[in-house]
Amino acid sequence: MRTLTFLGALVAAISSLMYMLDSHLEKFYVFDPTELHTLSKSAIAAHGNDTRAVVDYIVEHLAKTHPNHVNVEEEWVFNNAGGCMGAMTIIHASITEYLIVFGTAIGTEGHSGRHTADDYFTILKGEQLAWKAGTFEPEIYPQGAQHLMKRGEVKQYAMKEACFALEYARGWIPPMLFFGYADTFTSTLDFYTLWRTTVITGREMLTNLAKMKL
Ligand SMILES: *[C@@H]1O[C@H](CO)[C@@H](O)[C@H](O)[C@H]1NC(C)=O
Repeated sequence: MRTLTFLGALVAAISSLMYMLDSHLEKFYVFDPTELHTLSKSAIAAHGNDTRAVVDYIVEHLAKTHPNHVNVEEEWVFNNAGGCMGAMTIIHASITEYLIVFGTAIGTEGHSGRHTADDYFTILKGEQLAWKAGTFEPEIYPQGAQHLMKRGEVKQYAMKEACFALEYARGWIPPMLFFGYADTFTSTLDFYTLWRTTVITGREMLTNLAKMKL
């Protein structure tokens, strides 16, 4: 009985803490979706479809504007989630934000996942299609467009050919990692990639936490 009372109190304490933090999440953000959209558009204007150069431009610029929160090492790893396969490199990962370049050179299609963060997907190369159950026309996001998927929304999405994007998520990041890992256990069994992803993500999150960046 006492254990139950204690558990009840603990759950209540954690939920009210989460609730309180949730209304103050914005204070922890260091990136801004409009800033990232503008930066992506100037990178495309400068380098067009030379996506290698576009990515360098973005990372170099962010390293100047956010020197304490940007990982300048490119460490590409494959990611399988919701049936989609792509590769990503992590520019920033913390408890409340992540910023990655994600894409595929040959196309992919699947489930977006239902996430605990708002997700801003800015297309650097190619085109992304998406749609929600109950609609009848695709949403089309060409090069330079920013696709916002709000927290809790779910879509089917497709990149029919080569497509790369700057993906920025803000909200609660740790629960999203489970989705990012699920296909490893049910499909790919690529535990080496899982391990590398965990090491890089963990390192970035802890480095940021050490700088008091939630
Ligand atoms: C990139 O290539 C596509 C397809 O060939 C083309 O439609 C688009 O205009 C190109 N973008 C730039 C910025 O050159």
